[in-house]
Amino acid sequence: MCRREGPRWRWGRGAPGPTLLLSLLASAAPLGLLGDETRQVSLEVIPDWQGPPQNLLHIRAVGANSTLHYVWSSTGPPAALLVATDTPRSTLAVNWSRLLSPEPDGGLTVLPTDSVRFSSAIVFTRLFEFDDTNTSEASAKPPGKPYPPYSLAEFSWDNITDSLDPATLSATFRGHPIRDPTGAFANGSLALRVQAFPGSGRPAQAPRLLHSVDTCQLEVSLVGAAPRGNRSLFGLELVTLGQGPDCPSMREQSSIDDEYTPAVFQLDQLLWGSPPSGFMQWRPVAFSQRQRGRDSALPCQASPLRPTSEYPLPQSPIVRAFFGSQTNFCAFNLTFGTSTGPGYWDERYLSWSMLLGVGAPPMDSLSPLILGIMAVALGAPGLMLLAGGLFLLLGHKQCSEYQPIN
Ligand SMILES: *[C@@H]1O[C@H](CO)[C@@H](O)[C@H](O)[C@H]1NC(C)=O
Ligand SMILES: *[C@@H]1O[C@H](CO)[C@@H](O)[C@H](O)[C@H]1NC(C)=O
Ligand SMILES: *[C@@H]1O[C@H](CO)[C@@H](O)[C@H](O)[C@H]1NC(C)=O
Ligand SMILES: *[C@@H]1O[C@H](CO)[C@@H](O)[C@H](O)[C@H]1NC(C)=O
Ligand SMILES: *[C@@H]1O[C@H](CO)[C@@H](O)[C@H](O)[C@H]1NC(C)=O
Ligand SMILES: *[C@@H]1O[C@H](CO)[C@@H](O)[C@H](O)[C@H]1NC(C)=O
Ligand SMILES: *[C@@H]1O[C@H](CO)[C@@H](O)[C@H](O)[C@H]1NC(C)=O
Repeated sequence: MCRREGPRWRWGRGAPGPTLLLSLLASAAPLGLLGDETRQVSLEVIPDWQGPPQNLLHIRAVGANSTLHYVWSSTGPPAALLVATDTPRSTLAVNWSRLLSPEPDGGLTVLPTDSVRFSSAIVFTRLFEFDDTNTSEASAKPPGKPYPPYSLAEFSWDNITDSLDPATLSATFRGHPIRDPTGAFANGSLALRVQAFPGSGRPAQAPRLLHSVDTCQLEVSLVGAAPRGNRSLFGLELVTLGQGPDCPSMREQSSIDDEYTPAVFQLDQLLWGSPPSGFMQWRPVAFSQRQRGRDSALPCQASPLRPTSEYPLPQSPIVRAFFGSQTNFCAFNLTFGTSTGPGYWDERYLSWSMLLGVGAPPMDSLSPLILGIMAVALGAPGLMLLAGGLFLLLGHKQCSEYQPIN
């Protein structure tokens, strides 16, 4: 178990200086961006002392008046619970014998139960593979002849403790099919890397999603598995909890700014209710090489959410344990790539990232580069006028500080 103090991200609030102009421009961005609330973020693996290996990862982010719990598990299909409480003292309680029983209801709780303000879950149920050799149209549905899907509930997962890295607040669930008659995964694996953050910022690698202490990031990568076709496209099926009779809403946001994710002007969001509840956020892009850039970027398409009552899906014990036998689930599919352009076949590599969070989703504001370009476009005279006004203001303030005492 590790503990890290969240550093405050407070550029733009410093002493008056050259950054002031920039910060004035940036203050048009939503407040959440400034990482106002600090949280102590910690990561632990909850062991099951009796039974066979089980991977249960608990991320706890404690704020002044609230706690966020993220629980990730590969017991059953890989799944995550997100739970927000209105107290800094809420805890996760696991009753393993109940969690692993056929009736896991109540095997996983966040205490005190009346402090829970928001909860939801996401489950990764299947990995799809399509033969895209003959589809010319990029938006063809389905994107080619489907091969039998891999059920992620029938994967075997490595011991997560070995990948736990307290320094980066991350851990990786790495797995391969339990039954693999063709040996497709002999040299390959599917990995789900989960990372929490001690503060706001962006990772160095594309898609460089803006994160905060309220979020955790998931990077899904398929590496080294032998495809069944020469130009196989892959997809993922995700299942989440509905709200009453409805499915959560999916929104696309566009932006004119692509500095952090070249040539991607869109941000996709799944929202559980109106903010501040919970959200999933991703750029509609995946990568076919470790070296991520324009050359290895593939489009990622999301299908609409549909209630899953129409077809059977593997159950997640942790979701059942926390939510009981609620059956109102919704599913959607993500498909990565097109038959033209780069693909998994390049390097047997595919990677896609998303953020999971509670509260208002971090919003990309205009990047400093774009703001700079806008400032130049607005014209030097306007800037000088603004700077002159600021100089007068600050100059006056500084003078008053140096006034003689007597
Ligand atoms: C997982 O690995 C850790 C550290 O290597 C070890 O202590 C633990 O017993 C392992 N768990 C299982 C279930 O094998
Ligand atoms: C925490 O709650 C107390 C009492 O309700 C309130 O006074 C305080 O402003 C809250 N702090 C934050 C950071 O929200
Ligand atoms: C865990 O669950 C089992 C089976 O439901 C129950 O018998 C046991 O008392 C529970 N343990 C605790 C500590 O609550
Ligand atoms: C691909 O399409 C062509 C022409 O439509 C057809 O003749 C061929 O059999 C198809 N190949 C496969 C593998 O489906
Ligand atoms: C796995 O790697 C070995 C050695 O590189 C190679 O001989 C074998 O064909 C590979 N298997 C698959 C299924 O790619
Ligand atoms: C893959 O390509 C090879 C060589 O181009 C060809 O012989 C083979 O039939 C193709 N396989 C499939 C499944 O299309
Ligand atoms: C996801 O794709 C699979 C395979 O193409 C299909 O059977 C399933 O109905 C799709 N699910 C949704 C929610 O679109």
